[in-house]
Parts: sequence; structure tokens; C-alpha cells
Amino acid sequence: MTHTYTKIAPSILSADFGHLAQEIKAITQAGADLVHLDVMDGHFVPNLTFGPALVKSIRSHTSIPFDVHLMVTNPEKFVQPFADAGADYLTIHVEVPTVEKALNEIKKLNKKAGLSLNPNTPITMLQPYLSHIDLVLVMTVHPGFGGQSFMEDQIEKIEWLHAQKKKHGFSFEISVDGGVSEKNASLLIQKGATLLVAGTSIFKSASYANAISNLRALS
Ligand code: DX5
Ligand code: ZN
Repeated sequence: MTHTYTKIAPSILSADFGHLAQEIKAITQAGADLVHLDVMDGHFVPNLTFGPALVKSIRSHTSIPFDVHLMVTNPEKFVQPFADAGADYLTIHVEVPTVEKALNEIKKLNKKAGLSLNPNTPITMLQPYLSHIDLVLVMTVHPGFGGQSFMEDQIEKIEWLHAQKKKHGFSFEISVDGGVSEKNASLLIQKGATLLVAGTSIFKSASYANAISNLRALS
């Protein structure tokens, strides 16, 4: 059991895109720690979302950090535009061929570097990068869409990452993304998650404040 404060990052993928500025303000008031922004290119994942222009246009509506999740095949091409648009964390996928190039680009711009992996990717693929990244994003659904069911078999990746942190003194955040809800939050926190990304369980709830505090309170 860990006792560190658990950060909550609502994923705006499930927000009302017609009223995005209000949605950003509402989750900020409700106690969100970061805003999670899912960028999809229709190639790395079978869906499309938005680019840097949208991120820039919502940046002025909150002061909490932006956690940009790049589900794109060529992340190195988009690091600078998203950094300029106001990203604080830039998370790329370990499955792309340009991992090192993209991580270097993120570091060069003094942004926080995150690395994510799909459910079918072995966690040991992250080993070479753990000493110099700020966040690991464990996917607990196949990326591409909100509202999918949480994959319990991914929990062992959180345990492995937590053990690596203890063993080597690493300080990266362990973030979990996909199907996160009140039903699994406390288990994820117990296993070592320090940041929970949640779309549906926050934006489809009656009270964003209650949904956010319930995810955190169960720790
Ligand atoms: C899925 C995205 C997630 C998504 C999570 O590809 O990376 O961030 O918004 O949505 P929920 O919480 O609804 O599973
Ligand atoms: Zn995401």
C-alpha cells in the first residue's frame, strides 16, 4: 500500500467537444490535477481526434498541466508543435520506431517525457528508458476509444514498474489509462499507480467533483 497523493487526469476524449472551454473549467474546479489530451492520427490507432491548434485554444482556460498522449506513428514530428501549444507532459508509445528521437526532442524542449505501451506489448520493452523518463502510461484498454472495459491482466505491469522504482530509486509517475473507475481505482493505487487517467467515469458522471474525489479517496 502506498500513501502518496494520487493525481487524477480527466481525459477530455469523453467531454462535450461543443463546450470544451466550460468542460476544462469544470474539471479544474472539481479538483483535477492534470488534463489528459488524447491525440490520435488514424494510423497508430483507428481513430482521429485533434491537433496542436485545439490544445492551444484551450490552454488559457485552466492553469493545471496538460498531459498530452500521442497515439501517433511519427511522434517526433509533433513534439515541438504540442510543446508550443502548451503541453507539459508529452507521452509517446514505445511501439513506434522513433522512440529515442522523440524522447530526445521532448527533453530538449524541457518538457516532461512519458512512455506508454499497448496491452499486447511486454513491459520489459520499457526497461532501457526507465532511468530517464518522467512518466509511464500503462494502457488498460486497446488505445483508440473511450468507454472500453478495463483489462485486469495489465495490473501486473503496474506491479513490475513499482518494483523497478523501489529497486533502482526511479521517480517516474505510474499512470493508468483505460476503463479506470471507482471499481478499480483503489487496487491500482495499492499496486503503485500514482496518476489515474479517466474519461467516461468522470465526464459521464452526475458530479465531476464527486467522481474525481471518489477515484482518489479510495486510496
Ligand atoms: C484511449 C485513451 C484514453 C481514453 C480513456 O485510447 O488513451 O485516455 O480517453 O477513456 P475511458 O476512461 O473512458 O476508458
Ligand atoms: Zn490517453
